[in-house]
Amino acid sequence: MASPLSRIFVLTGAGISAESGLGTFRDRGGIWDRFDPLRLATPEAFAADPDTVLDFYNWRRRNALAAEPNPAHRALARAEARLAAAGGELFLCTQNVDDLHERGGARGVVHMHGELLRARCTQCAHTFACRDDIARTDPCPRCARIGLRPDIVWFGEMPMHLEAIDAALARADLFVAVGTSGSVYPAAGYVAQARRLGIRTCEVNLEPSDNAALFDERRYGPAGEIVPAFLAAHGLG
Ligand code: APR
Repeated sequence: MASPLSRIFVLTGAGISAESGLGTFRDRGGIWDRFDPLRLATPEAFAADPDTVLDFYNWRRRNALAAEPNPAHRALARAEARLAAAGGELFLCTQNVDDLHERGGARGVVHMHGELLRARCTQCAHTFACRDDIARTDPCPRCARIGLRPDIVWFGEMPMHLEAIDAALARADLFVAVGTSGSVYPAAGYVAQARRLGIRTCEVNLEPSDNAALFDERRYGPAGEIVPAFLAAHGLG
């Protein structure tokens, strides 16, 4: 018999990895305060200056590999396992491209903006696990041509796994957003989509996000403290 809350849709953003030492994007001093996304996170930027874009993601990949999961990642993984054992589901959709959810023990992580630890061939579209720096001259392991890029969704590109995400949201009892500013669509629109479906919504964040008014329940504080407390309060601690 699944718990009263049997299907939870959790959307995470950069804030859940902040206490692991990975910067967020829009906080003061965040990544987009220090770097220009138009020069580093668009297909046009990559076409114009691939070395600079590859260096930026090599730097972020090294940071992600040096970081450790925090109690928020681990609490979500425990809740995922408990719900699965009770016949329920915790669908973990992340905007993050680090692997801290996986290293925190989560099993089914859906990376809608791609993954730093995967590369993609621009010639044959082959994608593969990649923990090392990517250089412009590296050959694709499948077609041997050069032209590798990070398997990341850049601004102006279509996010990944959208059908699976919509299907999971449609079957959820609860929608929880953790550590996201609610600035980037389609992820920013999921809380409104949940409300239209009659699903209870909760924001767990350091401070109110852009769409805080759309949430039925709001918990504010560092994710490493409030995510475990929130899940425990719902019998999933
Ligand atoms: N605990 C919880 N929340 C936190 C913490 C923390 N320790 N630190 C920061 N936050 C919150 C901030 O208050 C903010 O609301 O995390 C949120 C981070 O927002 P953004 O920096 O905008 O990151 P995110 O919402 O993930 O951005 C979405 O934008 O640039 C693109 O592709 C990129 O996936 C990213 C997307």
